[in-house]
Amino acid sequence: MHKKTVFSGIQASGHLHLGNYLGAIRNWKAMQEEYSNYFCVVDLHTITVPQDPIELKTNIREVAGLLIAAGLDEAHSVVFVQSKVRAHSELAWILNCVTPMGWLHRMTQFKEKSEKQKEEVSVGLFAYPVLQAADILLYDAHLVPVGADQKQHVELCRDIAQRFNHRYGEVFVLPDALIPPVGGRVMGLINPEKKMSKSEEKQEDSIFLLDTPDQIRSKIKRATTDSSKEIVFDQQRPGINNLLTIYQLLTGDNREQIEAHFEGKNYKVLKEDLAEVVIESLRPLQEKYALLTGDNNYLDQLLSRGAERAEAQAEAKIHQVTVSMGLR
Ligand code: TYM
Repeated sequence: MHKKTVFSGIQASGHLHLGNYLGAIRNWKAMQEEYSNYFCVVDLHTITVPQDPIELKTNIREVAGLLIAAGLDEAHSVVFVQSKVRAHSELAWILNCVTPMGWLHRMTQFKEKSEKQKEEVSVGLFAYPVLQAADILLYDAHLVPVGADQKQHVELCRDIAQRFNHRYGEVFVLPDALIPPVGGRVMGLINPEKKMSKSEEKQEDSIFLLDTPDQIRSKIKRATTDSSKEIVFDQQRPGINNLLTIYQLLTGDNREQIEAHFEGKNYKVLKEDLAEVVIESLRPLQEKYALLTGDNNYLDQLLSRGAERAEAQAEAKIHQVTVSMGLR
C-alpha cells in the first residue's frame, strides 16, 4: 500500500527546547516508519524577524544536527533546509495571490509577534503562514505533526488549498494537523502560563536540548511551583502540572503511577527526580549530536541529498500548479 505523506517544519531561530522535542520532534521519529516524511529546517520563516547572519548559519546546522541526532533517518525521512529548495518561495508567492489579507489578520501568532515588534513588522512576518502553507502543499502532505500552537496555521493551509482548488481544479491535498494529546503545549519553567519558547528572553524558562546536566538541574530547581503541597496533576496549578506532564512524557508512566510515586513527597524530590529523568532522556541525543557534528561533511552531505530529493517532488508540484493557473 502507498504510504501517506507527512510534512513538518522547525525554525532555526535559536536553540531547540524540550517543547519542540516533546511537542514535535520525538513524535516525528516515532511515526516515521509508517509514513513517507519530509522534515524541513524553515530558514525562510526564520528571517521574517531580523537575524544575525553568522548566528543564523550556526543555528540552521544545529537544528538539522539535532533532528538527525533525535533519530530521523534517511531511510524514512527526507531532512532538508527550506531555502535550498526554491519552489517554497515560488509557491508562497503564488499562494499570496489567492489568500485574502483578512485571513492573515486573524492569525494569533502574527498578532502576538507583531505586538512585540510594532512598526518593524515585516511583510514577511504577515505572510508567514502562507509560506508555511506552501511548505505543506508542495509535498501533497496528508498529515502535519505539530504542537498545539500551529493548529491555526494548518487550518489556514487547508483553507488556502481549498480556495485554490476551487479556482483552478483539484491540485492540492487538504492536510490535517496531528497534535499530541499530551505534550502539545509544554509550558515555560519560570512562567508556566506561557508556552516554552526559543526566543524567550529569560533563558531559565526553557530547557534546551543541548543544556548540560548542571544547567538542567539548576533550571528545574528554580521552576515556579505554588504554595500547595500535594503533587498531583491539576490544570489549575500550571507550574506543578507542567513539571508532572514533562515527567509523564519522558518516563511513559501514567498519571496514577506518577501521583502514587510522589505521594507524601515534597517539591524538592519532584524537582530532583525530574531533573535526572530529563538529563537521562537527553543524554543519547546529546551524545549522537556530538558524534555527528564532529564530522562536518556528514551533515552537509545528508542535507544536500535531502534537498535533492525534496526538490524533485517540489518541482513536479510547481509544474502542476503553474499549468493549472495558465502560467505554463
Ligand atoms: P517552531 O519552530 O516554533 O516549532 C517547531 C515545532 O515545535 C512545536 N512547539 C511546541 N510544542 C509543544 N510545546 C511547546 N512549548 C512548543 N513550542 C514549539 C511547534 O508546534 C512545532 O510543531 N511555523 C512553524 C514552522 C513551520 C511548519 C511548516 C510547521 C514552517 N513551515 C510546515 C509545520 C508545517 C514554527 O514556527 O514552528
